[in-house]
Amino acid sequence: MNIQRVGVVGCGLMGSGIAQVCATAGVETHSCEVSEELLKKGFSSIEKSLAKLEEKGKLPGAGKDAILKRLHCGTDLSVLAECDLVIEAITENLPAKRELFGRLDAIVNDKAIFASNTSSLSITEMMTATSRPDRFIGMHFFNPVPLMPLVEIIRTLATDPGVVDSAVAFAEKIGKAPIRTSDRAGFVVNRLLVPYLLDAVRALEEGVGTVEDIDKGMKLGCGHPMGPFTLLDFVGLDTTYYVANIMFEEFRERRFAPPPLLKRMVMAGHLGKKSGKGFYDYPSGTKQSEKQKSS
Ligand code: 3HC
Repeated sequence: MNIQRVGVVGCGLMGSGIAQVCATAGVETHSCEVSEELLKKGFSSIEKSLAKLEEKGKLPGAGKDAILKRLHCGTDLSVLAECDLVIEAITENLPAKRELFGRLDAIVNDKAIFASNTSSLSITEMMTATSRPDRFIGMHFFNPVPLMPLVEIIRTLATDPGVVDSAVAFAEKIGKAPIRTSDRAGFVVNRLLVPYLLDAVRALEEGVGTVEDIDKGMKLGCGHPMGPFTLLDFVGLDTTYYVANIMFEEFRERRFAPPPLLKRMVMAGHLGKKSGKGFYDYPSGTKQSEKQKSS
């Protein structure tokens, strides 16, 4: 299947990034949100990101303005009726996603592929809200979407192998590097990344090192672009806590259990970069100082 028109539902951090990379690759892209205000916010981050990339000469063809012309937006799902692929990137809430896919199923043509960008929820549970389990997959992008090359393509027991091939080809068309995986909580990357991030918090709780030294260790000793605490602040402590709980629920293994410090920080509203405070402080949106939280 040659995917030419794409719908992206949700225009937050992930949805706006996905819409941006699709439009950048020359694909007609329809972005849907529940309110004009959220659409405006999403589009403003797309414009900023495109401006930055254009400044660095990293945009193809006619540049930012041509890309923005391929990006259409609205609050009514009916604009997605003729799409070949609809990617869901709304809040990580299973009942909300199931409800959305049920509505999309009635609106979007039968041949279209449905994909969820979930990082940890079950693709199989979402698929059963539709009448097209064979045309249902996961497409998990990484933050920041315009810069991170990977997309995980997730199949269920019911997915038609041809649909997986089409999604892989589409991911390549939009400049991403796809990998294939099956529907298990966390897929490939979070299966390995989440226990690592949780272990960093446990090491901090046990006094193995400071936030700064643990970060420095993994950056300089393993060549990671960000240490685990910088990455936790970047991804969001609430997001990591939520994903870890889902994985613990699925596997019942201690390595997926969120440590008490992470839970306390989430309860205290220390969510990382987005709240201005996490393992580091972000008084003006940028990382300013390190502090140890071992008590
Ligand atoms: N669009 C355009 N440009 C962007 C951007 C965006 N969305 N985000 C950042 N940039 C720009 C920065 O402004 C910066 O520009 P400058 O050079 O002009 O200042 C440039 O990209 C490079 O940024 P940095 O200076 O921060 O340099 P880095 O070399 O650190 O690159 C990074 C940034 C690619 C984010 C790198 O730090 C990295 O790879 N970090 C790890 C990210 C990661 O692991 N992501 C996965 C998270 S897990 C996930 O998403 C799964 C989910 O399910 C939880």
